[in-house]
Amino acid sequence: MLSSLRMASRQAAVTRRFAAVRAASTWANVPQGPPVSNSLPGITEAFKADSFDKKINLGVGAYRDDKGKPYVLPSVRKAEDKVIASRLNKEYAGITGVPEFTKAAAVLAYGKDSSALNRLAMTQSISGTGALRIGGAFLARHFPGAKTIYVPQPSWANHAAVFKDSGLKVETYAYYNKDTIGLDFDGLLRDIKGAPEGSVFLFHACAHNPTGIDPTPEQWNEIEQAVKAKGHFSFFDMAYQGFASGSVDKDAFAVRHFVAQGHNIALAQSFAKNMGLYGERIGAFSLVCADAAEAKRVDSQVKILVRPMYSNPPIHGARIAAEILNTPELYEQWLVEVKDMADRIITMRALLKENLEKLGSKHDWSHITSQIGMFAYTGLTPEQMDKLAKEYSVYATKDGRISVAGITSDNVGRLAEAIFKVKG
Ligand SMILES: Cc1ncc(COP(=O)(O)O)c(C=O)c1O
Repeated sequence: MLSSLRMASRQAAVTRRFAAVRAASTWANVPQGPPVSNSLPGITEAFKADSFDKKINLGVGAYRDDKGKPYVLPSVRKAEDKVIASRLNKEYAGITGVPEFTKAAAVLAYGKDSSALNRLAMTQSISGTGALRIGGAFLARHFPGAKTIYVPQPSWANHAAVFKDSGLKVETYAYYNKDTIGLDFDGLLRDIKGAPEGSVFLFHACAHNPTGIDPTPEQWNEIEQAVKAKGHFSFFDMAYQGFASGSVDKDAFAVRHFVAQGHNIALAQSFAKNMGLYGERIGAFSLVCADAAEAKRVDSQVKILVRPMYSNPPIHGARIAAEILNTPELYEQWLVEVKDMADRIITMRALLKENLEKLGSKHDWSHITSQIGMFAYTGLTPEQMDKLAKEYSVYATKDGRISVAGITSDNVGRLAEAIFKVKG
């Protein structure tokens, strides 16, 4: 009797203890993290809260038309209509995606006559970010040298996070000269030459984000030689092919030049910007291998990486992109539309500079037009950017970066006035 009483009270104590454990949530110790957003933290909220009807949002990371509206390319609409009309099934793609897409994406990046095409290990990816992530994970697992990747200072804000989470150490190399608002070419070469032999370097293939400053072809030539002399490995991030200059070939110069000079590079491609397929998440990752046999082995390891990550990629965006890239009339139409987007951006740069000069600004604004792509570094200080927002309802990041895609024929005059009043 006594012993069964003791057992009952012990049982009750155990139940109480479990109840106490249950009451404390499993995630009780998860700390609040800083805001993570793929729009620009702070800007979107402040912009929305501003009731001024002529407010300007230069924080957008996506192309806008001259009315400030999101733009779906007519070639994309046509391709999508065709894809839908063909009533394809919804079976899984293979681990490396839709082959009609990856094959065409390789031709677009490397060029139709490239020696790389028959020695590529390639996979479709969840847009450019996913391509970088697969590349990072592949390097972390298989790169024979130090698992450190050098990224430019500054770089796209997500690069460091993607590569760290892939298992790589991230270091930076010099890129931006704030005095000239241009390329710190000497610093860049110094850091390439100073890094340990056989390091991994991440290069923006074109339209460097956030600065909009790209090396010239001659400078790429010197960079290539420095990279080769040190036996470094090059990883190109090409998120803006065609969107920078308006020519898909010109924007692929660095990638093709490195391959032609014998570099077996890694490449991340995105079709978010150049096809406006942002939310479809369509991209590709490729590794140029020594030969087809090596590519086959590397491909097997890419599959081993991808399968437990997300099994296989989504098909809709890949079908749209494949339709455009593989249908001659649609491809020609798309080339014109990419150029139109690039040209609108180039025109807005010129108009902004012209308006500033007309207002009598003595500042040298030539960097606005020498930079390329969606973003421009204005050289404005955080205080000046604050003033732009508070007094003129112009919103952009504190580092002075503006998205040229947010400039329109309608707001460029007011923008120039605001910048002139803040900077002189
Ligand atoms: C330099 C750079 N790389 C990669 C990306 C990846 O974009 P997504 O994942 O949308 O293709 C971006 C997007 O802004 C970018 O600017």
